[in-house]
Amino acid sequence: MATRATRNLSTTLLRQLSRRDVTELTMCRQCRLRSRGVHTGTHPSPKDAPRAPPVKLSKPHRPAVQARAAPFGLLVGGGLVASALAYSQSVDEGARIEEVAAVAKDERDPSLPRFRLSDIRKHGASSGEPWVTYEDKVYNITDWVAAHPGGDVILRAAGASIEPYWNIFTIHKAPHVREILQQYLIGFIDVEDLGPDGRPATETIEDPFVSDPVRDPRLITHTAKPRNAEPPNEELDRAFHTPNGLFYVRHHMWVPVVEETKAEQHTLSIELPDGETKQYTLEDLKSKFPVHKVTAVLQCSGNRRNDMTRHAGKTNGLQWGVGAISNAEWEGVRLSDILADAGLKVLQPTSPTRKDRSPPQDEDQVDANAMHVQFTGLEAYGASIPLAKALDPRGDVLLAFGMNGEALPRDHGFPLRAVVPGHVAARSVKWLSKIVISDEESTSQWQRRDYKAFGPNEGANPDWDRAKSIQEMPVTSAITGVWVGDCVRRGRVPWMGNNNTQNQAQSPKCSSSTTRTVDIAALPKKIGITSSPTSSTTPANEPVAAQGYAYSGGGRAISRVDVSLDGGQTWDQAELVNDCTADPNNPCHGNKAWAWTRWRYVGALPALALPTPDAAEKKEESSEECDDQKVRRRKHHHQQQRCTTLVVKATDDAYNTQPESHRGIYNVRGNLATAWHRVRICPRCTTTGGGSSSSNGGVTWSTGETYGCGFRKEADEVGEGMRKSGVGSGEGK
Ligand code: MTE
Repeated sequence: MATRATRNLSTTLLRQLSRRDVTELTMCRQCRLRSRGVHTGTHPSPKDAPRAPPVKLSKPHRPAVQARAAPFGLLVGGGLVASALAYSQSVDEGARIEEVAAVAKDERDPSLPRFRLSDIRKHGASSGEPWVTYEDKVYNITDWVAAHPGGDVILRAAGASIEPYWNIFTIHKAPHVREILQQYLIGFIDVEDLGPDGRPATETIEDPFVSDPVRDPRLITHTAKPRNAEPPNEELDRAFHTPNGLFYVRHHMWVPVVEETKAEQHTLSIELPDGETKQYTLEDLKSKFPVHKVTAVLQCSGNRRNDMTRHAGKTNGLQWGVGAISNAEWEGVRLSDILADAGLKVLQPTSPTRKDRSPPQDEDQVDANAMHVQFTGLEAYGASIPLAKALDPRGDVLLAFGMNGEALPRDHGFPLRAVVPGHVAARSVKWLSKIVISDEESTSQWQRRDYKAFGPNEGANPDWDRAKSIQEMPVTSAITGVWVGDCVRRGRVPWMGNNNTQNQAQSPKCSSSTTRTVDIAALPKKIGITSSPTSSTTPANEPVAAQGYAYSGGGRAISRVDVSLDGGQTWDQAELVNDCTADPNNPCHGNKAWAWTRWRYVGALPALALPTPDAAEKKEESSEECDDQKVRRRKHHHQQQRCTTLVVKATDDAYNTQPESHRGIYNVRGNLATAWHRVRICPRCTTTGGGSSSSNGGVTWSTGETYGCGFRKEADEVGEGMRKSGVGSGEGK
């Protein structure tokens, strides 16, 4: 069963493009343009097709080196992107210099007109005759819009340069796409509007991201344009619901502009398998259908990719930490209600569901197991889910307009987005404008390529078509905060309250021969400090506290979170926070476990060897110690463990559990990086006196990038503060 519009245009044309089969496109466009009396380019048409007089360019058209804008594609796409970019860089620099000189003297084809940028601007999206520019050339794309595989998103560039968009949709940076564009050449940009490099000045090229919203500065930005950012660990799961402004952001393009006053009129079109289309405004959705709430995580398949890169090998894509996941309460209408209203007829589940069994009774009825719901956003992002998930009465798929009690923020899909709980967030399409019920998955690269995982044997060139697209997410967990030593004793752990019992700690010593008293109570309370180490180790049973989240896809609840303080040799269990029932006013909504489970843990660390600063070692060695003694002392010190590894892993209610290592699940896309999460905990001697080994010090606890008292950045900041205030510096207090 075919779905008309999508299959006839987008799908077919996308395949044509990817096969580099441009002949048919060329021919039909040549026919159309003849009647319009528009110049066409030099692309060879089939011999029997009537041709417009060929336009001779002053030199064969060459792709230019992409010097103006950052290659966003590297950031947003996969292998496809890499090969496309390789093309643009294979340009002969000498030829480019010649071309620039020719443009400067305007030795370009004199038979074609010159246009000022001000004239070109008049040919915007609503002009009826959209033009775009590329390098110094002008193209009338009126006839390309309908045939453009990406739909009318090409109109976004109308009246201006198409380059910034092709820098995002890097699939276009291939010779065959340039050949298609060449068919629409109508003239050149006037030299008056060209800079010394033969291109329009940068400031005349529109920045596609100019209307993006202002974001919370606390977000950790991976790419600014398009915006990709995650909350810092300390904010990520501080509360059960991630605040809207700190919810991770994953965009492939710009944020579409929908004016607030017009939001209620935002239209969603729904195309049924027979090609019939229904339309609903946001107002219709809100007023005609029951409104539901669902508490659900969204998680990018690239969450913790950075972990996989560090432990298993190079991966393509944004190097997310543990924050490409967030949890919110969504409000909207059920997709299943809308599809039923739109007239979608579905075979009863009790009927045969496989095509090879007896045929359906009613020709109009579709088999939910064989169909897909394709979603498209206003900026042309697209993805799909199986129709069976959309229709599952306990599947809770929403068309959402609310998030945590507010209207959807622009970054998260205002005014309407799909929320597909339990599935990879790539399927929760934002700025939703179109739904198509089809017998095939979305043809977008985000469905067919990017969000797939491969075997570790498949290397850098996996078989993209053979792998299934990611839908339900596997079980995962992460550590988001660690506190050690006095941080725990002194109540620096947010969920432990303030039991500030050890305000006056005594002389923390660390390879230091002098003794000075550091008043810990007077220090900024951020530092993770152990007050009374022996000369070579930290005390046994130093308290450690940790927190984090666990989550599994498909609505499977978390049944257990295991914690190890010795790299996985012995295990204990974390306390699972009962967020869903703790607050009766704020229960978890939905039919299954779509939200994350926060966990907490308090334990005791083994004694760990303190590092011996070089200076201290030299000093000791210059003593009267004999050689044997020195060797024995050093051996003993090195046998003592320096660091330990905190490990967490979760198990869901289907007894799925996380794999031990990333090596076994390595894939070049770095998707589904769900191995045990590990954080190394190391004691560090703090020489609070500006680096002098003879000054007084303590022990700070370094836990890499993980939030908490021992957080390296915090410790450094505190150390800096201590130096400034002269604490323990030998300069007096
Ligand atoms: N929808 C649109 N229209 N455009 C996008 O770029 N990104 C997808 C999905 N929906 C995307 C989209 C991906 S990959 C993810 S992980 C989630 O949105 C992120 O949702 P968020 O930004 O609200 O956290």
